[in-house]
Amino acid sequence: MTKPLFTALQAATQPDPYPYYTELLQGPLLPYDTASGCYLGSRVAVISGVLQHPVARVRPVGQPVPAALQGHRCGEVFAALLRMTDGSRQQQLKVILQRQLAAITPAQLTDICEAVLHEAIGSVRPDATQINQLIYQTPVRVMAQFLGMQPAAARLAATAIADFVRCLPAQADAADVSAADAAVLQLQQLIQHCLQDATSWSAALSDEFGTTAVQVAAANLLGLLSQSYEATAGLIANSLIRCNQQPDLAPKDQRQALLFVREVSRFDPPVQNTRRFLAEDAVIAGQHLPAGATILLLLAAAGRDPQHWTAPDQFRPYDRPGHSAVATDLSFSLGAHQCPGRQLAEQIAALVLLVVWPHFRDLRQGAELRWHYQPSVNGRLAWFHFDKGAH
Ligand code: HEM
Repeated sequence: MTKPLFTALQAATQPDPYPYYTELLQGPLLPYDTASGCYLGSRVAVISGVLQHPVARVRPVGQPVPAALQGHRCGEVFAALLRMTDGSRQQQLKVILQRQLAAITPAQLTDICEAVLHEAIGSVRPDATQINQLIYQTPVRVMAQFLGMQPAAARLAATAIADFVRCLPAQADAADVSAADAAVLQLQQLIQHCLQDATSWSAALSDEFGTTAVQVAAANLLGLLSQSYEATAGLIANSLIRCNQQPDLAPKDQRQALLFVREVSRFDPPVQNTRRFLAEDAVIAGQHLPAGATILLLLAAAGRDPQHWTAPDQFRPYDRPGHSAVATDLSFSLGAHQCPGRQLAEQIAALVLLVVWPHFRDLRQGAELRWHYQPSVNGRLAWFHFDKGAH
């Protein structure tokens, strides 16, 4: 394999990581990468196997919470998140969460999303700053309103969540943890208000979680804000980049927009990788791996696996062969931790894309469009700049 100019953990934010993923897909099934200290999974079959393997866990054994978060409010939330825990309790609560999320109808979602978009842009033509804000704040504001927050509270939640997510990367430092702690305090107050309203979605979820899991419910309501935040924004941003590259394919209605964001989530996904830690020795892809091994699952590489996809490097939103088999598109993961917000995220992204793309197209006509990816080891989160005077 040609030596790449970046490591596996830097791939997510490279301008074009896909030739690197393609090389991995042509190499051994589960190579060990010394730079990251991880085994690298890139193929659909290998990643699916790991995600469904009984000894592959979301946290290293004996370390349910990262050391930097221990003893902090954000550490308590982290420890209660379904995303960060394994086992039968996680699965029971996840079934409830999935059922409650599935009860949200497309019509309810459209109403809230349109109201948030209208409030954000109204009749003004958004500038570059407002475009980035719309992309990064709309999904979480929609989610916050679903939890039961009023629009003003949802705006506060959208700002606070940006501070909370600072504690999630492994390299979070003391400043990140303290910003996250302050955000948790504010978010818990906003969520308590929702829980006090017996008719709210949050109260219904908490009731179903039961009296022994009131704190767990509150933590996971905060978790829903954090999960809906960057990944959905990244899906919208990557979809706008695709519209910009192939404007003839830009969606014209909600049905097309849904197909478009689905193909973007395979072709250029916002969550490029996730990790699993082996709790015991295991044989994976025919290879013996020791307990304690870390496997980096390159979900974005799986979207280009030629064993699984026809013409994987072609962007074909409206005639992708076999795209109904969403279960094996791994961009929303699989198994115990498969994303329960997929439908919601796709619908929000499609609605926002349809509204924002015409403004985006107008803006880039009088300016040079550039973007950079925000620092992250797993998120591919574009941030746009429109340089005036370039034309
Ligand atoms: C409304 C928006 C969203 C909500 C409410 C949401 C919610 C969640 C939740 C609660 C989990 C944890 C599930 C568990 O561990 O059992 C999760 C996992 C996940 N979500 Fe989402 N999500 C949203 C958007 C997205 C988007 C846009 C993507 C990427 C395209 C995404 C990708 C993932 C992935 C990859 C995982 C699992 C990671 C792993 O298995 O290690 N999510 N999501």
